[in-house]
Amino acid sequence: MDASAIDAASERVAAVVAQTPLQFNERLSRATGANVYLKREDLQQVRSYKIRGAYNLIAQLDDAQRAAGVVAASAGNHGQGVAFACARLGIEGKIFIPSTTPRQKRERMVALGEGAAELVVTGDTYDEAAAAANAYAEQTGAVIVPAFDDPRTIAGQGTLAAEIVEQLGGRAPDALILPVGGGGMLAGCLSWLAERHPATKVVGVEPAGAATLAAALDAGGPRDLRQLDTFVDGAAVRRAGDLTYAIAARHRPAMFTVPEGRICSEMLQLYQVEGVIAEPAGALASASLGIFRPEPGQVVVAVVSGGNNDVSRYAEIVERALVYEGRKHYFLVNFPQEPGALRRFLDEVLGPDDDITLFEYVKRSNRETGPALVGIELGDPASRPQLLARMDASPMQVEVIDPGSPSYRFLVSG
Ligand SMILES: Cc1ncc(COP(=O)(O)O)c(C=O)c1O
Repeated sequence: MDASAIDAASERVAAVVAQTPLQFNERLSRATGANVYLKREDLQQVRSYKIRGAYNLIAQLDDAQRAAGVVAASAGNHGQGVAFACARLGIEGKIFIPSTTPRQKRERMVALGEGAAELVVTGDTYDEAAAAANAYAEQTGAVIVPAFDDPRTIAGQGTLAAEIVEQLGGRAPDALILPVGGGGMLAGCLSWLAERHPATKVVGVEPAGAATLAAALDAGGPRDLRQLDTFVDGAAVRRAGDLTYAIAARHRPAMFTVPEGRICSEMLQLYQVEGVIAEPAGALASASLGIFRPEPGQVVVAVVSGGNNDVSRYAEIVERALVYEGRKHYFLVNFPQEPGALRRFLDEVLGPDDDITLFEYVKRSNRETGPALVGIELGDPASRPQLLARMDASPMQVEVIDPGSPSYRFLVSG
């Protein structure tokens, strides 16, 4: 993979890829002291950067390959790129998706394919969908369009780095922050920058529950992650690609992981402050600012890689953000067997700006009262120690449910 392959890809995809805005961001610049820009790939027609790699690969197929049709596995965004490219180039496509692919992405794939692309739902993870896509290719002779582990896909995603430098007037950023799933965007941008602008620091960001490439770099090669949190559906890949891993291992980007709650918090900031609809993977890069700390005054670009967020996910996103920000807390409360216990809890334990957001008896028994699961949203996250002190001083027995604990998963988040 060299920079000239990426320059050739830039020419190839120019007809279908929008030059998305590179926007200065006040909020993140103020928070970090750097000059932070967001590269708005959520504004591509397919609402993610994935059109770059998919189109770059499919446009290079010869007539026989086009006639055989293409097949892809996708968590949802690559599939949209493939579907769009199929419709544009008049090629038939089959797209295997895991059951975790949100409805919004499924609907967009069908619409963008304009009848040229068909969806098949298989398994619960991207990797299971990929295995099914490979088997289908073997049976039928259809051409596989890999989501990340192919030089043509990687070169297409690398066009992002070239475009950003062009938009900065030929000056490369001091740091480029990229979300990482299988590592295609990272590998393409690393390859182009290493040759053309080696001083740029490339930062790869993974969700804490799917830090696949970091694990591969630690282990000296791609490994299956034993546990995979699929919440950040665009970046939940169990195993890094062989090629993407090799490129990352050669160039050694700075790797960071971001807790899922922080990603949710950043999604809400993007939505409420800037009016940007980002999906979880789309907010991953900018969510790392504060964990990755650029030098004051540096020019930093964070890629908002996608905006395909299903509206039904916002309730969970708000909840996770509140827990991460320390605003929402859960407790098991044992009320004493006496009249007025609940009133005393409200009067003596809750602060004036605190709200009860959940109150549920956990188990029913023949006794009158049992422990209750209580959710409290604090007016001020800094007031938690006072709340705990008032709980201690009260006659109630209170158990804090830690957000990382199995009880939290069992009782609260399901
Ligand atoms: C919105 C979004 N961001 C980031 C990624 C991660 O991409 P890569 O596999 O190129 O690392 C994906 C992958 O599907 C995505 O859809």
